Amino acid sequence: MTDGFGRKIEYLRLSVTDLCNLRCQYCMGPEGVEKRAHRDILSHEEIEEIVRAAVKLGVRKVRVTGGEPLVRPGVADICRRISAVDGVEELCMTTNGLRLPELAGELRRGGVCRLNVSLDTLRPERYREITRTGSLKDALAGLEAARAAGFPPPKLNCVLMGGINDDEIPDFVALTEREPVSVRFIELMPIGPCREWDRSRFIPADAVLRAVPALEPAGGDGVARLYRLPNGRGTVGLIRPVSDHFCPACNRIRITADGKLKPCLHSAAEIPLRGLHGPELEAAIGAGIMAKPQRHHLEAGSDNIRNMNAIGG
Ligand code: 5AD
Ligand code: SF4
Repeated sequence: MTDGFGRKIEYLRLSVTDLCNLRCQYCMGPEGVEKRAHRDILSHEEIEEIVRAAVKLGVRKVRVTGGEPLVRPGVADICRRISAVDGVEELCMTTNGLRLPELAGELRRGGVCRLNVSLDTLRPERYREITRTGSLKDALAGLEAARAAGFPPPKLNCVLMGGINDDEIPDFVALTEREPVSVRFIELMPIGPCREWDRSRFIPADAVLRAVPALEPAGGDGVARLYRLPNGRGTVGLIRPVSDHFCPACNRIRITADGKLKPCLHSAAEIPLRGLHGPELEAAIGAGIMAKPQRHHLEAGSDNIRNMNAIGG
């Protein structure tokens, strides 16, 4: 379906939990988030029903997100149900990777075709600092498990933070020289706890091109501008939610773990989907698509009232 500004909406980002086994400083407080009652989050059946309705309206690609999707019990069953829906051409997941050693095989068999793994640093002490509780070793074991399970080389998502990890830009880029991985640098968005951070933490993704002048333009991939090292096997993507407006190319809608459709990441608007079925459910999703604003005004702050873990990035 096409929205009010001529954008064809084909991509659904579906959060299956707001819980996470990490506590990344920019995303949540040290205490994490309050666990919700089971009945407050969408059941496997409700998720499947929503995906069926969204596909009728033209959705072709689904990404399962969190919080951390792999802490949701039964996440592999959820994936199986989604990938089995006629019309879902691509099912992907964004994860911090920590539980992949247990789950990669099941997810692969459940029809997940690609993984994006969040990795903001390659240094063990720093990983612990940024995530407060995590161990880099576990994240790397997750990447290895994904490879062993037959997943294609992942996209590594690195949120750029001035004075925190920008000195690692060359190290991340170097990964793409030897391996066909795609490293994507994402500008830190002022959502959640990092809203209060010093402005020096928010650096434009251009910093990557300054740090590694050898990078050559290599086209685009959705919201990412791609670059490549001469003879590099992988790619480097820049995702600039802050310094560039990719709103005109936005083809996505989001659904939260508690069943609200969010037409735009940065707006407070939410459309409740729970309890709706059949034509009513489709009408509500259609209304959500029509409610997509033309663009966000992130430079003036996000109107979004939820933290990232409650939306799924
Ligand atoms: N700005 C940019 N990216 C963020 N993420 C979480 N919070 C922010 C933020 N404030 C990223 C995570 C992960 C994805 C789910 O969203 O690091 O890669
Ligand atoms: Fe968890 Fe992602 Fe938030 Fe980190 S950014 S605490 S991995 S939800």
